[in-house]
Amino acid sequence: MKEKMYFPKNFLWGGATSGPQIEGSFEKPHKNVFDYWYEIEPDKFFNKVGPNVTSDFYHNFKEDLKLIKNIGLNSFRTSIQWSRLIKNFETGEVDEKNAKFYSDVIDEIIKNDMIPIINLHHFDLPVELYEKYNGWESRKVLDMFETFAKKCFELYGDKVKYWTTFNEPIVVVEGQYLYKFHYPCVVDGKRAMQVLYNLNIASAKAIKQFKKSDCFKNGGKIGIILNLTPTYSRSNSEEDIKASNIADDIFNKSFLEPATKGKFTKSLIDLLKENNVFWDSESGDDELLKENTVDFLGINYYFPRRIKAKETPIENEQWLPDNHVDYYDMPNKRMNPYRGWEIYPKAIYDIAINIKENYNNIPWYISENGMGVENEERFLDENGIIQDDYRIEFYEEHLKFLSDGIKDGSNCFGFHCWTPIDCWSWCNAYKNRYGYISVDLETQKRTIKKSGNWIKQFINIH
Ligand code: BG6
Repeated sequence: MKEKMYFPKNFLWGGATSGPQIEGSFEKPHKNVFDYWYEIEPDKFFNKVGPNVTSDFYHNFKEDLKLIKNIGLNSFRTSIQWSRLIKNFETGEVDEKNAKFYSDVIDEIIKNDMIPIINLHHFDLPVELYEKYNGWESRKVLDMFETFAKKCFELYGDKVKYWTTFNEPIVVVEGQYLYKFHYPCVVDGKRAMQVLYNLNIASAKAIKQFKKSDCFKNGGKIGIILNLTPTYSRSNSEEDIKASNIADDIFNKSFLEPATKGKFTKSLIDLLKENNVFWDSESGDDELLKENTVDFLGINYYFPRRIKAKETPIENEQWLPDNHVDYYDMPNKRMNPYRGWEIYPKAIYDIAINIKENYNNIPWYISENGMGVENEERFLDENGIIQDDYRIEFYEEHLKFLSDGIKDGSNCFGFHCWTPIDCWSWCNAYKNRYGYISVDLETQKRTIKKSGNWIKQFINIH
């Protein structure tokens, strides 16, 4: 018999998505970097499907939220698109129609007895802020982000209790400045590290505004969403461990430490200084970081990071993180072949214990976990329902390790799937589907998959 899992009372069972991945770009006053990239290079997107319509949440949100509630979820995360809400980035003047749209969405989430978690940035920098000021490299853009955050708290702080500043900020650094999967596809280690620093400052600035807001005074909480990809060393050799510590410092602790402890690790600072890629800062930044740490963490977990000492020759003339580490292709690892990601559920337990032991057991939740699968129509049964047993198995295994972490004292308050309803996934567009609910792109028809019925039952009995 399976051991009973344990999840505390009032656990947040939910699902996550983001504005740019569901809404469609209808009626936006500005383009974000993905809207623009699709315009100039549609070939970069799977089957040339861009962000114009996505799952058309802009028009369907009432029905969508009802469906999400109907599969038993009690909370829902989405993001406010900066390029949709704000008309004038300098002054923070809003686009009234879109301000009403987000207000209506939040009301509808609450009307469906779900707790809204609202995120402020999900990879969607307005493109003109890149073209005019170099985007996240510029302090001016950080100030504009602070203005945007302040506006969001003013507009919706009376209804939204849980806010997050960024989703996976390290992915912005990786995608825009290291590995070319977000526009403008720059490869520049020094600029990457400046952006890494600036995103931490931007988050702290938003938190500073939050602490001045009525929302905070009325008990609201603010966090950040990090893809804490646990780092596992190939062996216990000194060289492998050194490399895996470097990867951990650059890709995990670079946001985790400032967000929770208000400062960067000394080892990261030393590494960047030794390599002449240390960031520029301004006076007052240290205090800003120290005074504006998060109330909670959202942790996105998909796959582990396996590292070995550098064995391959360094091919870059410039400094890049990969000059220090090689990725270890562990034999016999379990893979999700569609997304190319390793499946390793135990990492969730390791995350839980890491937060408990090294981060003062700060409240946290799994803000994303899920399995993207291609061509799910293969699994349609005679009633037109996708039999996604692989997804159910995936979630059961991950939830088991989460439950173990909670039993061992980790302060986890929720589990959000990625994602309740199939959505658009950046350059992969609709290649891999993640939802409990499918979307037919031709008709926009929604159908609950087998996993959607499963999660409802699972929540009921836990
Ligand atoms: C997370 C992001 O990294 O993973 C989502 O927050 C994303 O935006 C999700 O869609 C799944 O990854 P992908 O690349 O398959 O869409």
